[in-house]
Amino acid sequence: MRLLWVIPLLVEAHNKSFLHHCATDCNCQEELRTANCSQAFLRLLPSQLPPYTEHLDLSQNQLTHIPRRAFQTTRRLKTLFLNDNNISSVADGAFSPLEGLLKLDLSRNRIAALGEGFTLGMGCLKELLLSENRLVSLDTHSFQHLDGLLRLNLSHNAIHLVQVRAFGCMGTLRRLYLDSNRIWSLDNGVFTTLKSLEVLHLQRNNISLIEIGALTPLTSLALLNLACNQLTSIHFKTFLSLHTYSTHILLENNPWHCDCDLQRVFRKLHSIRRLFLDDYHNLRCTEPPELQGYGLTEVDAELCIAEMVTVLIITVAVVITVVAALVMAQRRRRKKEKHWTDGASELSYD
Ligand SMILES: *[C@@H]1O[C@H](CO)[C@@H](O)[C@H](O)[C@H]1NC(C)=O
Ligand SMILES: *[C@@H]1O[C@H](CO)[C@@H](O)[C@H](O)[C@H]1NC(C)=O
Repeated sequence: MRLLWVIPLLVEAHNKSFLHHCATDCNCQEELRTANCSQAFLRLLPSQLPPYTEHLDLSQNQLTHIPRRAFQTTRRLKTLFLNDNNISSVADGAFSPLEGLLKLDLSRNRIAALGEGFTLGMGCLKELLLSENRLVSLDTHSFQHLDGLLRLNLSHNAIHLVQVRAFGCMGTLRRLYLDSNRIWSLDNGVFTTLKSLEVLHLQRNNISLIEIGALTPLTSLALLNLACNQLTSIHFKTFLSLHTYSTHILLENNPWHCDCDLQRVFRKLHSIRRLFLDDYHNLRCTEPPELQGYGLTEVDAELCIAEMVTVLIITVAVVITVVAALVMAQRRRRKKEKHWTDGASELSYD
C-alpha cells in the first residue's frame, strides 16, 4: 500500500527533471520563462527545452528548415524569434499547436513561399515579421487563420503579385508594411476586409496603376505611403473613395507626368478636407521633357494655360461665327423687307 502511494511521486519527480532539461546551447531561466539560444551556431532546433518556456530566442543561428510541429513540447510559447537564420523551408503546421503565440519573427531568412498550412495553429498571433526574405507572391492561402493579427511586416521581399483577398480574414490588422517590394499594380479587391488598417506602407515598389476601388475598403486608414513608385498620374476617384476620418498620403519620388489633368486632380484632392497631401510641395515632374525636374507647385499655375488659350480661341471663334450669322440674317431680312416695300409701292402706283 505504502509503495503504491510513493510511485506517482517518483514518476512526477522524474518527469520534472527530464522535462525541465535545458539544451546545452541555450540559457533557460524558469522564473522569466525564457530560453535563450541566440548565436549558438545551431543547425538544428534544440532537442530539449523546458515546457514552461514562453519566450524562445533562436535568432542568429544557422537553421535551414522548420519541420511540422517543431515546437509541440513548448506549447506555452508567447514569443518566438527565428530571425537571422538561413531558413528556406517551413513545413505546413510548423507552428502548430502554438495557440498562445503572440509574436513570430522570421525576418532575414530565405523564405520564398508560404505554404497553405503555414499559419495553422497560431490563432492568437498579433505580430508576424517576415521582412527581408524572398517572398515573390501572396495568395489567398498565405495568411489563413490569422484572425487577430495586428501587425504584418513583409517589407524588403521580392513580392510582385498580391492576389485579390490575399489578406483574407485580417479584419483586425492595423499596420501593414509592404515597402521595398516589386508590386506594380493595386487591383480592386486586394485590400478587401482590411477595415481596421491604419498604416499602409507601399513605398519603394513599382506601382504604376491603382484601380479606382482598390483603396475603398480601407475605412480606418490614417497613413498611406506611396512614395518612390512609378506613378505618372492618378485618378481623383481613387482617393475620393477613401471614406476615412483623416488620411495622410505621401506621393513623392514618382515620375509625374505634369499636365493639366494632373493639376486638376491635385486641385480637387486639396479641396477634400479629410485628405492631407503631406509632401505635395516635393512632387517633381518627369514628363513632358521641357518640365523635367521642375516641382509641380512651380509649374501648376501654367499647366492649364495652353488649354485655357485653346478654349479662349474656340470661344472667340464661336462668338464671331454667331455674330456674323446674326448680322447676315439681319441684312437678308432688311433686303427682303426693302424688296417687299419696293414691290408694294410699285403696286400702289398701278
Ligand atoms: C544557407 O543555406 C544555403 C542553402 O540553402 C547554403 O548554400 C548557404 O551556404 C547557407 N548559408 C549559411 C550562412 O549558412
Ligand atoms: C519592418 O521590417 C523592416 C526591414 O527589416 C524594418 O526596417 C522595419 O523597422 C520593420 N518595421 C516594423 C514596424 O517592424
